[in-house]
Amino acid sequence: MTESRLFSPLQLRGLTLKNRIVVSPMAQYVALDGGATDWHFAHFAKFALGGAGLVFTEATKVERRGLGTVGDMGLWKDEQIPPLRRIVDFLHAQGSAAGIQFNHAGRKAGTYRPWEGYGTLDRSAPIEGEDHWEVIGPSAIAYMEGWPVPREMTEDDIAQVIESFASAVRRADAADFDVIEVHAAHGYLLHQFLSAASNHRTDRWGGSLENRMRFVLEIARAVRQAWPENKPLFFRISSVDEAGWTLDESVLMATELKARGVDAIDCSAGGLNVRSPTAAGVPRRMGFQVPYAERIRRDAGLATMAVGLIIEPQHAESIIAEGRADLVALGREMLFNPFWAHHAAARLGVDPEYRMMAPVYQWWLDRRAKAGYEPAN
Ligand SMILES: Cc1cc2nc3c(=O)[nH]c(=O)nc-3n(C[C@H](O)[C@H](O)[C@H](O)COP(=O)(O)O)c2cc1C
Repeated sequence: MTESRLFSPLQLRGLTLKNRIVVSPMAQYVALDGGATDWHFAHFAKFALGGAGLVFTEATKVERRGLGTVGDMGLWKDEQIPPLRRIVDFLHAQGSAAGIQFNHAGRKAGTYRPWEGYGTLDRSAPIEGEDHWEVIGPSAIAYMEGWPVPREMTEDDIAQVIESFASAVRRADAADFDVIEVHAAHGYLLHQFLSAASNHRTDRWGGSLENRMRFVLEIARAVRQAWPENKPLFFRISSVDEAGWTLDESVLMATELKARGVDAIDCSAGGLNVRSPTAAGVPRRMGFQVPYAERIRRDAGLATMAVGLIIEPQHAESIIAEGRADLVALGREMLFNPFWAHHAAARLGVDPEYRMMAPVYQWWLDRRAKAGYEPAN
């Protein structure tokens, strides 16, 4: 058996992940009134069977006003807990940890699903029989031309949204999740507060960098208080964006987040003014966002997760072995191959006999490999 850092455990507070492989949050847009469905069960179950150490749900909305579109998952009421609990129990039974990402879309609320056009909703009629919801943001500045102008949030709105994050986190604990990730990237509400391009406020929530960071840091404080001490807390950030946010600012913010009990930064990029979760104005090549995870890890001194075009097992192994990140998150590659972790373990020589797999698969696949039916890759 070959030594591997990718397949070494990672301890974060009271949680030990069995390996460094994470399923990145990926919106499915098939929830019913925010509730997880059988689709979600099957979708997440695959990744646990596939051997990932940590499986994240999609961006789960903390209040109905935060919905991206009908079909987004939510955890703004207790009725949404049981179907998530069923998923979490299955992930645990397979030895995977369960993570939930929390988000509020802010001015990006109200879009069609990607395969239905991805644009802003036509608000002249109910959508799929449901009432529309109000679009709010730090300032009355639309995301892009043709998109709704959000109502500028009042102090009360700000307090309500912070409390919604804390309430959703308490429900996540009731559903037995192991990790919370707050989504502060990709142009959603938290990122909108951070960026001077979307935040023109003149009160304590806007203006200086310190003021623009206040909303994110207040959410970190509220979430940390609501989440058990022994469970880790992650933040996803856009390490850089096309509207001028810099890596230096990310290092500063990560340092502040760490001081508020955040354990890991998930280092994505872009999305403030561009309609894509991976757009950062930099060429997209394999591991193009890894340098952000490396820098933040080194200079802010906390764990980081690298994401974006990580596909090859040897590449993932080297990212961890070279200390560039503590975790690697895979998105589209996991949709293509939910068994990526087991295949990587075999390819890296860590588990050529598939002993990490559930015995009901292991027995057959070991024999299949020994009989030479496995494709050479
Ligand atoms: C179908 C799909 C849905 C996504 N939904 C989310 C999401 O809910 N939250 C989020 O932070 N990023 C989301 N992303 C971005 C991914 O988490 C990931 O950062 C991105 O796809 C880059 O990784 P990859 O190259 O491995 O796919 C989504 C990506 C895909 C493909």
